[in-house]
Amino acid sequence: LRVLVLAGGLSYERDVSLRSGRRVLDALRSTGIEAEMHDADVSLLPALRADPPDAVVIALHGATGEDGSLRGVLDLCGVPYVGADARTARLAWDKPSAKSRLREAGIPTPDWVALPHDRFSELGAVAVLDRIVSRLGLPLMVKPAQGGSGLGAAVVRDAADLPAAMVGCFGYDATALVEQYVSGTSLAVSIVDLGTGPEALPIVEIVPRDGVYDYAARYTAGRTTWHVPARLDPAVEDRVRSTALDAYKALGLRDLSRIDVIVSEDGGPQVLGCNVSPGMTETSLLPLAVQAAGIDFGATLAALVQRAVA
Ligand code: DAL
Repeated sequence: LRVLVLAGGLSYERDVSLRSGRRVLDALRSTGIEAEMHDADVSLLPALRADPPDAVVIALHGATGEDGSLRGVLDLCGVPYVGADARTARLAWDKPSAKSRLREAGIPTPDWVALPHDRFSELGAVAVLDRIVSRLGLPLMVKPAQGGSGLGAAVVRDAADLPAAMVGCFGYDATALVEQYVSGTSLAVSIVDLGTGPEALPIVEIVPRDGVYDYAARYTAGRTTWHVPARLDPAVEDRVRSTALDAYKALGLRDLSRIDVIVSEDGGPQVLGCNVSPGMTETSLLPLAVQAAGIDFGATLAALVQRAVA
C-alpha cells in the first residue's frame, strides 16, 4: 500500500499543515505503510496522474484542503482519501453554512450573523455594526467565515472594538462570521469511525494560559493546558459527546473529525465548529485524544487508510 500525505498548500495555515503532515507521515511509516509527503502545489496533478497512490491522507488545512476543491480533484483522479467527501468539506468549511445545517438539525450553536464586506459599503459600517450589536448583544466573537487556527478571529467585549475586529477579520476573508461569544468550558470532541460507526474519543478540555485560544496558544508548547478526559460531570459529558456525534452526522462527516464545543456555565453544549481536516501537530487535539483513548495514532491512521481503499 502506498500512501501520499498531502501537506503544505497555499493557505494561511501552510506552516501548521506541514507540521501535521510530518507527524502523519511518521505515524503511518511507524506501522510499516509506505508513505510519502507531497505539497499541494502545481506539481501535484502530474504526480497523481503519473503515479497514482493507493490512497491519500489530507493533512492540508485551510482553503483547498478543507473547502472540498482538492477532494474534488482526487475524486476526478479516482484516488481514494481519508476524510469527508468534497461536498461535506465545502459545507463544513463555510462556518455560516455549517451553522445553518446544525440549526436545522436542532443542534445548538451560538446565534450569529454572516456579514459580507460589501454590506459595509452598501449600508455604512456604523449602521451595520449597530444592528449586529443590537441583535446579538455583547460580547461577540468575530471570525472569518472560512478559516482556521484562530487566524483573523477576535473576541469583542466593547462595541467600540468591533470595527477593528472586523478589519482584522476581513484581512482573511471577504465574509465575517459574527457570533455571540459564549463563555464557558472549551472542549474538543474528536470522532473517529474505523468501520463500526463514529465514536467519540476522550474529550479534551482546553485551558489557554492567557485565556484566549489564538494561533500562538494553539501552536506554542506550554501556552495551553489540556485536561483529558475533560473535567465534566458525567451527565454533561454524555450530552457533549452526543451533541458532537449529532453534529458529525448532521453534516455528513466521514472517517474522522474534530467537533469544537463550548459548555457555558449555565447552559448545555453548543457547537462552535466541525473540522474536516483537524490539526495533527504536536500540540493538536485529535492526536491527544487518540493517545488518551489508549490507541496508537499510526494504527488509527492505518485503519482509516485501509477503510478508504476498501
Ligand atoms: N485548523 C486547525 C488545523 C485545526 O482546527 O486544528
